[in-house]
Amino acid sequence: MSIEAHARSVVDIYDAHPINEQQIVDKLKLDDIDLSTLNEDILQNYDMDHYDGVEAIDKLAQSAGIKTDSHVLDVASGMGGPARYLAHNYGCTVTGIDLTQSRVEGAKRLTEMTKMSGQVDFQVANALENPFPDQKFDVVIGQEAWCHIPDKKRLIAECVRVTKVGGYLAFTDILECTGLRADHREVLEQGLGYSELGTLAGYRELLEASGCVVEDIEDLGARWGVILRQRLEMYRGLEAQTIDLLGIEAFRRWDRVYTLYVDQIEKGHLGGGRFLARKSTQNAP
Ligand SMILES: C[S@@+](CC[C@H](N)C(=O)[O-])C[C@H]1O[C@@H](n2cnc3c(N)ncnc32)[C@H](O)[C@@H]1O
Repeated sequence: MSIEAHARSVVDIYDAHPINEQQIVDKLKLDDIDLSTLNEDILQNYDMDHYDGVEAIDKLAQSAGIKTDSHVLDVASGMGGPARYLAHNYGCTVTGIDLTQSRVEGAKRLTEMTKMSGQVDFQVANALENPFPDQKFDVVIGQEAWCHIPDKKRLIAECVRVTKVGGYLAFTDILECTGLRADHREVLEQGLGYSELGTLAGYRELLEASGCVVEDIEDLGARWGVILRQRLEMYRGLEAQTIDLLGIEAFRRWDRVYTLYVDQIEKGHLGGGRFLARKSTQNAP
């Protein structure tokens, strides 16, 4: 598949994703939350699309030294949950980029609802063509999203380019391990929009080749196996809402492919990793 065709298929998948703006707002209403007084302490329980909740964001933020005067870029920011959480809890400024327009529009609306638009902003952009100038950001983060991006070498180079010398890349991602069957890879590519998946060693190599010192890599595969089994149940709990919004076929398609995905993680054919790398003064390209 060409890069352009892949990008279109990712957007189609996220336009029909069970976690979406409408579903978030419906769930808030169902829980009797008054939307006129919505704040980030409440919204953070509804708007994340990565594994391990806010603890995972804290790990990235603390290891990368995010503080009040940091400007953070969230690459593939989804509904904007991590961006708002970072701004609210660390006092930093956050910019998010995402390929899917409906996600960016939803992220902006949710941010307006929490009155955080002065601190957090989003724009539509492909991570492979990062629209920002060199060395604009103190920290670049990403969570469970770079698995969709086909050219990892260019992705890392773009992320490093926009990071200040001495700044950090801190991200988690879904990885390929050993034994993934070609037919399963194809189902995951078509159903979840995955692309060439990164590996623990592959990301290390790319980060080092792009002028970074890798400070930490953590293998998250075993932990994610447990989390993803629960997440599959969470998506099944959204059955009625997903069918109402997107139709029965969309629900069934998602359930089939997500079941395969969880199975592959549990079997160790897929995995996860957390990466922390500092853009080095000596080796910066
Ligand atoms: C699983 S969501 C992650 C959202 C967010 N990190 C979070 O934790 O809530 C993946 C996001 O990646 C975005 N995405 C996929 N390919 C992209 C690309 N090439 N450039 C920018 N965003 C991309 C999708 O549109 C989607 O919103």
